[in-house]
Amino acid sequence: MQHRFDQHAQHWDLLGSPLRPCAEDMRLMQSCFDKWHDAYRSVQSPTLLKALLLGVTPEIATQDWGMPVDMTAVDISQAMINAVWPGNTPTRRALRADWLEMPDTQLAMPGTEYAFDMILADGVFVLLDYQTGYAKLARAVQRCLKDDGIFMVRPFLRPSVTEPWENIFEELWGKRIGSFHAFKWRLLMSLQGDDVRRGVAVVKAWEMYHRQVSSHAHLAEVTGWPVEVIATIDAYQNSPAVYAFPSLDELIEIVSPYLLCTSQETGRYELAGRCPMLSFKPR
Ligand SMILES: C[S@@+](CC[C@H](N)C(=O)[O-])C[C@H]1O[C@@H](n2cnc3c(N)ncnc32)[C@H](O)[C@@H]1O
Repeated sequence: MQHRFDQHAQHWDLLGSPLRPCAEDMRLMQSCFDKWHDAYRSVQSPTLLKALLLGVTPEIATQDWGMPVDMTAVDISQAMINAVWPGNTPTRRALRADWLEMPDTQLAMPGTEYAFDMILADGVFVLLDYQTGYAKLARAVQRCLKDDGIFMVRPFLRPSVTEPWENIFEELWGKRIGSFHAFKWRLLMSLQGDDVRRGVAVVKAWEMYHRQVSSHAHLAEVTGWPVEVIATIDAYQNSPAVYAFPSLDELIEIVSPYLLCTSQETGRYELAGRCPMLSFKPR
């Protein structure tokens, strides 16, 4: 697991939307935060909000929330922390740990155990297996949140009807796909199909890509995409990773013993419909 994300760190700068949150995603996250905070503030008025970030997503780490926030980020990969984390400050720090086994002593706040006002995440579920990983993460989030806290996450969701992979390549060669990362995500979701429990081994996307595309240079010539961005698919070649893309209903169902979905906001960028900003409260 650790090694896998060490490689992710090496090509982080080449990743873009929808794999990383864009400005529109951050506006949606801010708007969910504002709505929650306006309601929350009237009940209780902490001067410094305690936030937990799952991963080290710099767009979230550097967001100006319009009020003081103390942030702890948790990521399993030291290489990702070194490469991507914008640096520790008196009110922002990154810890190396597994989300599913969070270190009690480091996360606990003085006087209270596990009391975060908000937990923030980008992607995250996709990396876990649907059967047990999703539920374990939901439980960990529930444990770490205050009763009136909020969990905001931008998951990656499959479409309700699976796209045939042939159509995706047709659109690719027809230059109707806006970015290599959108293509890669669509291909992975298509190869998974509607069985989220099985997920999709990322190496399958690599194999399919290389059966259909003669070289990165050729695709770069046709699409105008930078060849080094296209080459990010080679990270899948020897990867044991299996991604799991649920539908919205499947996500809500698996986390439902622990978390209740309270809002859903959708942007307008390419594949935004598959990456909504969701808010949850603990049950
Ligand atoms: C937050 S997610 C997604 C971020 C971004 N949207 C992307 O797709 O790369 C990726 C991060 O999660 C971390 N990660 C994956 N599984 C983890 C786990 N079980 N515990 C803690 N960190 C984990 C990885 O090291 C990586 O930095």
